Amino acid sequence: MKTEIFSGQQNHLQASLKRCKEILDSGGLIAFPTETVYGLGGNGLSTESSKKIYAAKGRPSDNPLILHIGRKEDLIPLVKNISEKAGKLIDRFWPGPLTLVFEKSDLVPLETTGGLSTVAVRMPADPIANALLRTVDYPVAAPSANLSGRPSTTKVEHVVEDLSGRIEGILSGDDSEIGLESTIVDMTSEIPTLLRPGFITREDLEEVIGELQVDPAITEKSIMEKRTVLVPKAPGMKYRHYAPKAEMFLVSGDSEMEMVKRISERAATGVGILTVDEHRECYEKGVLVSLGSRENPTLLTKHLFDALRQFDHLPVTRIYAEDLRLYGVSDATMNRLLKAAGGNVI
Ligand code: TXA
Ligand code: MG
Repeated sequence: MKTEIFSGQQNHLQASLKRCKEILDSGGLIAFPTETVYGLGGNGLSTESSKKIYAAKGRPSDNPLILHIGRKEDLIPLVKNISEKAGKLIDRFWPGPLTLVFEKSDLVPLETTGGLSTVAVRMPADPIANALLRTVDYPVAAPSANLSGRPSTTKVEHVVEDLSGRIEGILSGDDSEIGLESTIVDMTSEIPTLLRPGFITREDLEEVIGELQVDPAITEKSIMEKRTVLVPKAPGMKYRHYAPKAEMFLVSGDSEMEMVKRISERAATGVGILTVDEHRECYEKGVLVSLGSRENPTLLTKHLFDALRQFDHLPVTRIYAEDLRLYGVSDATMNRLLKAAGGNVI
């Protein structure tokens, strides 16, 4: 299949949306930009489209898809009820990088929810995403637009790399603003449960709705222990994810100097080092990829998936990553880095 690229630029957008709608209406798939990462979209109420999404990504079919909507009221027909707390979160954070899990209505096929009786819904803030979602008459099911197991896509080039030839079209936009997938909160439990950390933090959420539980399977400790006893409630969180092809290790240290020293000792030909601009001069050997200046943790996050993908094109078989916590990145960023490292910490 030939994958068409549609421009999301202002002067082309209307024509692009018209074509994207035709493709989605006929059951085809369109990747599109959002503020978190690029999504791989299909008609979320169509069994056939959902099956195609799983096939295009090579994704296990027990891993449910998030439904994306363009207006808050589009949520109503998709779910059984909207609790007061859910209403508060929606008022505060939608449109934005927050996904909420509800009991699903009969309208939503089990193929979309990976067989679950619940459904995850999000309303993206990205203007191109919003325009696309308002153009069609159904929610758009969209996992991250990467091949299963690979880092999520934050640039249109990443989407081309993974999905060209596998989907009908790509609506192009700028690089993803945040660069990390949405925060997911399960609203079906008595006390809402954080299933995946993201740009919207636990503290942000607790400020609006009070107490929140955290799925124990997503904690740092659990990722590092590679515990298989704890099955995450968001099925996707159990799979190896975000992983570059080379084996990766997160290197910590009591101080920055110690961390750099520990990596330097291991640096050699065929070794990749994930670092920051300020440390470029510190390493004599190894293939460096920098996430940007240590002074800007938001940018370090935004560049993370791109950097992980860069290593796949470099002659490295092992990667040592600096402990980004030292630069003040969020818990959500550390969660992805640790998962990319398969829980390997030195
Ligand atoms: O930011 C995002 O959320 C991006 C953009 C495209 O919107 N999408 C995304 O989708 O990250 P995906 O499929 O890569 O990750 C969705 C996660 C998976 O871990 C999945 O298991 C979980 O959401 N999930 C989906 N529906 C669920 C449900 N009903 N209950 C629990 N977890 C669910
Ligand atoms: Mg994903």
